Amino acid sequence: MCGVVGITGNENATKILVHGLEKLQYRGYDSAGIFVDDQAGSNFLVKTTGSIADLNEKITPEVQGTAGIGHTRWATHGGVTTENAHPQFSDDNRFYLVHNGVIENYQELKDEYLQDVKFHSQTDTEVIVQLVDKFSKEGLSTKDAFKKTISLLKNASYAFLLMDKEDPETLYVAKNKSPLLIGLGDHCNVVCSDSIAMLDVTNTFMEIQDGDVCIVKPDSVQVYDQAGELSERKHFEVNVDPSDSEKGTYPYYMLKEIDEQPNVMRKLAKEYLDENGKPVINDQLLKAMSQADRFYIVGAGTSYHAGLVGKKQLEALTGIPTEVHVASEFAYEKPLLSEKPFFIFLSQSGETADSRQVLVNVNAKKLPSLTITNVANSTLSREADFTLLLNAGPEISVASTKAYTAQIALEAIVAKAVGMSKGNQKATDFDLKYQLGLIATEMQSLVEEKEIINQVSKDYFVDAKQAFYIGRGVDYTVSLESALKLKEISYVHAEGFASGELKHGTIALIEEGTPVIGIITQDDTAGLTRSNLAETAARGAKTLAIAKKSLAKPEDTFVIADVDELLTPLLSVIPAQLLAYYTSLNKGLNVDLPRNLAKSVTVE
Ligand code: AGP
Ligand code: GLU
Repeated sequence: MCGVVGITGNENATKILVHGLEKLQYRGYDSAGIFVDDQAGSNFLVKTTGSIADLNEKITPEVQGTAGIGHTRWATHGGVTTENAHPQFSDDNRFYLVHNGVIENYQELKDEYLQDVKFHSQTDTEVIVQLVDKFSKEGLSTKDAFKKTISLLKNASYAFLLMDKEDPETLYVAKNKSPLLIGLGDHCNVVCSDSIAMLDVTNTFMEIQDGDVCIVKPDSVQVYDQAGELSERKHFEVNVDPSDSEKGTYPYYMLKEIDEQPNVMRKLAKEYLDENGKPVINDQLLKAMSQADRFYIVGAGTSYHAGLVGKKQLEALTGIPTEVHVASEFAYEKPLLSEKPFFIFLSQSGETADSRQVLVNVNAKKLPSLTITNVANSTLSREADFTLLLNAGPEISVASTKAYTAQIALEAIVAKAVGMSKGNQKATDFDLKYQLGLIATEMQSLVEEKEIINQVSKDYFVDAKQAFYIGRGVDYTVSLESALKLKEISYVHAEGFASGELKHGTIALIEEGTPVIGIITQDDTAGLTRSNLAETAARGAKTLAIAKKSLAKPEDTFVIADVDELLTPLLSVIPAQLLAYYTSLNKGLNVDLPRNLAKSVTVE
C-alpha cells in the first residue's frame, strides 16, 4: 500500500509533496516523511509517525527545496516508528529512498551483501538504499548501482523513488507490480502512486511498465525497459476536477460518498443506457462475452461482494454460468477453467495487487478479460482487454460505499446487454432504465433517514461486542457487505451469515442483547429468513429488519421500495452503510481512516 510522491524542478517542492501526500493518505497513514534538496547545498529529512497533519507540524519554514520525495506508509516490515518511516537513507547519508511494496528476499540480500553496514530501521526498504550505496562505492554510477540492486530482487513488488545528494535534481524511479506514474509539467516533472496527488501540477501522465527504470529531471524523462533499452511510453490526460476529491462541508468523506449514490445511479443510467433503455456497450466486448461458456468474476473485499450480486444478475439475464472468486485465493490456485472462460475484474481502485496477480495469470494464458473500475488508466484497466468505468467520482473513504452500488448497477447493465445480444427475453424485458431511476429516488429517501439510523446505532451497536447480519440468496451477499462495513470502521465484531446456516452452529454465538439484522427482500425466502430471525430473538437477540415493502411487517425498522429482485442490494445496503458510519462516529473513531487499513491494497 503506501503512497509515494516525487518532484524535480519546482521551488515549492515541500508544499507540493505534502499536498500530494495528503491526497494519497487513503493508501496508508501510519507514518510519513519527506526529503527535499534545494540544489544549493541544503537538504532536509522530516519523518514522523501518524498522519500527514502530524508531518506538517514537524516541517519548519526552512524546509524548502526544488526537488524531493515523500511517502505515506502502511507498514509491512518493521513496526510503526519514526525510524521505519520513509524516506530510508544509506548509512553515509548520500542516498534517500521511498518505496511502495515488499522485498521478499531482503534478509538474504542483507546477509549476503551488507553484513558490515549499520542499519537504522527494521524495514525491507532500507536494504535497497544501502545496496545502492554499496555498489556506488564500488565504482558504479548511481543509475547502474540502482539497476544492479533491482536485478538482485526476487518476487519483489516496488515503486521506488531514489535521490542522490550528489545529483539532487535527478529522481531515479523504478516500478514492478506497485502502481507508479510520471507527471509531465512545465520545467518540472513529478512522480506519484496516483495522479490525484499531482493534479495541481499537471494533468498529463506517462504510464510506467513493470521492470522499467526511469531517470526523471526537470526537463526530461528517460525510460529504460526491462531489457535496458531506451523506450517510449504512452501519455494520457487525466480529466478529474481536483475539487471532486474535496470533502466540502461534510465531516467525513464516507458520508459524502453515501449521499452521492443516487447521482451515481443516474449518471450510470445516462452513460450506459440509450433513450429506449438499451445498453450502450462496445460491440467487441459484447461479442467476446457472448461467446463465453462461463464467466469468472474476480475481486477483493467489497468488490468481491459486488461480484456475488453480479453472478446472480449474469446468470439470470444471460444464462451463462458464473463463478465468483476472492482474488487472493484464485491467484495461486490451479483452477479448472471452462473451455471458453471470460474474466471480469471488479476493483474500485484498479490497483489491488491480489486482483492484478490473477490478471497477470489470465493474460499469460491469453484469455479475454474486462475490468470494471472507478479509476481510468489504473493498472487493472490498462492490462485487461476491455474496461468499463464506474464514473462514480473519486472514492476517498477507506470504507467503500458508492463503488459497491455502482459496480452492481453496471454489472446489471452488462448482464442485460449480453443477455439481449444472446436473444434472452428476460434481458430484453428487464427495464433497467426505469429501475435505476426508481432506485435513485428511493436511495435519496433512505440517505435522508440519517437521524433514525443514528438513533438505531446508539441503541443497538455502539455498546455491542458483536453483531450479525443474516439473509438468504442475494440478501446473504448484502449481509456479508453490511458486516464488513461495520467491522472495518466501528471495530464491532460483525459477520454476515446465510440465515439457514445459523442453526448449524453459529446460533451458539447469540447472547442476550446481540444485535441481529435480517435482510428480507426476496419473495421465495422471506418467510424462512423471518423465522430464522425469530429463532435468534427467542435466544435473546435484539432483532431488526431491512425489508422490502411488499414483504415488510409494521414493526420493521427499515423498509425499502419494491424494486426488481436482482437490484435490491442497491437499496438494502444503504441503512447498513449508514449504521456503520454512525457507529464509528458515535464511538469517536476516525471514520475515513480506520486503524490498520488502507484504501488501495497494493501488496499481496
Ligand atoms: C471496502 O470497504 C474495503 N476497504 C476493501 O474491502 C476493498 O473493497 C478491497 O480492498 C478491494 O479494493 P478495490 O475495489 O479497489 O479492488
Ligand atoms: N515494505 C515497506 C515498509 O514496510 C513499504 C510498505 C508498503 O508499501 O506497504 O516500510
